[in-house]
Amino acid sequence: MSLDAKKDWLGFVQHAWQAGELIRITLAGPRTPDKSLRQVTIRPVTIRERVVLSFVYRHDTKDVTKNLDPDEGFALIDDLIGRLFAHGYLQTPKGVAHLDYPSHRPARIRHERPPETVGAGAEPGAHDRTKQRRIEASVPWLQALGVTAANGSVFRGMEAKFRQIHRFVELLDHLLPDAKFAAAEPLRIADMGCGKGYLTFAACEHFRRIHGGALHVLGIESRPELVELTNRVANQCGFNELRFTAGTIAETELDRTDVLIALHACDTATDDALAKGIAAGARLLVVAPCCHKQVRPQLVPPPVLADGLRHGILLQREADFVTDALRAALLEWAGYSAQVMEFIAPEHTSKNLMITAVKKPGRYDREAAARRVRELAAFYGIREQQLATRLGFSLTPAAPETSAA
Ligand SMILES: C[S@@+](CC[C@H](N)C(=O)[O-])C[C@H]1O[C@@H](n2cnc3c(N)ncnc32)[C@H](O)[C@@H]1O
Repeated sequence: MSLDAKKDWLGFVQHAWQAGELIRITLAGPRTPDKSLRQVTIRPVTIRERVVLSFVYRHDTKDVTKNLDPDEGFALIDDLIGRLFAHGYLQTPKGVAHLDYPSHRPARIRHERPPETVGAGAEPGAHDRTKQRRIEASVPWLQALGVTAANGSVFRGMEAKFRQIHRFVELLDHLLPDAKFAAAEPLRIADMGCGKGYLTFAACEHFRRIHGGALHVLGIESRPELVELTNRVANQCGFNELRFTAGTIAETELDRTDVLIALHACDTATDDALAKGIAAGARLLVVAPCCHKQVRPQLVPPPVLADGLRHGILLQREADFVTDALRAALLEWAGYSAQVMEFIAPEHTSKNLMITAVKKPGRYDREAAARRVRELAAFYGIREQQLATRLGFSLTPAAPETSAA
């Protein structure tokens, strides 16, 4: 842990407070024993003419609020950040100061986002924005899709889906500042393999609330009966900017697209979706891989791992790891900053990984990125991987890559 970065960030917090510029602090990336805790938001509120810091502990299904005197509150933030939370976001009218504790590297501060870009933010009325970000259980589309009842209660068996919807929106919200969509530009979003559209509706609703420009959201799904259902719900619930179409990921031609989503698309369909998004110019890619079948039969365990990988379950996990690590490395080669993170808590499903990629703004060392992909593939003896194929990237050094799709 870099004490300097933490000290500097806490200094920014104090300065923002003293200057009356503190809009909100968010502590995210929990490492807490309580797995239901997602994040803590902290903002100044006036109670009986006294300004205090209001801490809201956001759990999967409830919020817990604590109001503290400023000194006590700042001491608590000092204690929590770095120890129990990996990210701290300080929001002021000037932007966001992000304190980040990457794994195995020293803490660092990044200053993000001018106020005119979309996302969590620096605009006034942050309290209202907090409300805007949550998808209320009572929204009609959640009822029409059978997640919640008319009184806003979540149907039995749909709790995990409800949590997943909120987690997805929360992750989108954190990614948006990096993607830097200008507030008034038209935004095109494609959700490939969208199923019953829970997350397509959630994305559409979220962007509707935070984005100033025109929205065009397209859900692509191979099962026509689901397409019929989701188009009906979209019409009933007044989502004019959202439409669903029947088709496969591999065969769909995407027009220019800004955000590509593909959650739990089977096997190499995730790769097809990523390649489609890259070819369509997407600045933000969000995928949650499902099953992996292509890499496992090719995997030649490096000698030091051979004994461990004679166990089928470990071999499968290693193949999953190699597949997703190759995807992330290929995305870096294609000009994106890739991140791999936990989507939902592993007790709900083992398919809990999310890969996100944001287009890099400037030049980058493509040769070095290509080398990293090939070294990883060679280490495990992998000759073919669908995303590499779709991007025209040869995993074997003899034939150099052709294009980034
Ligand atoms: C596990 S569901 C996930 C649905 C949604 N993305 C979510 O996470 O809630 C996968 C969906 O993708 C669809 N699907 C699978 N392969 C597909 C393909 N190649 N092209 C289009 N849709 C596909 C399936 O019919 C199914 O509805």
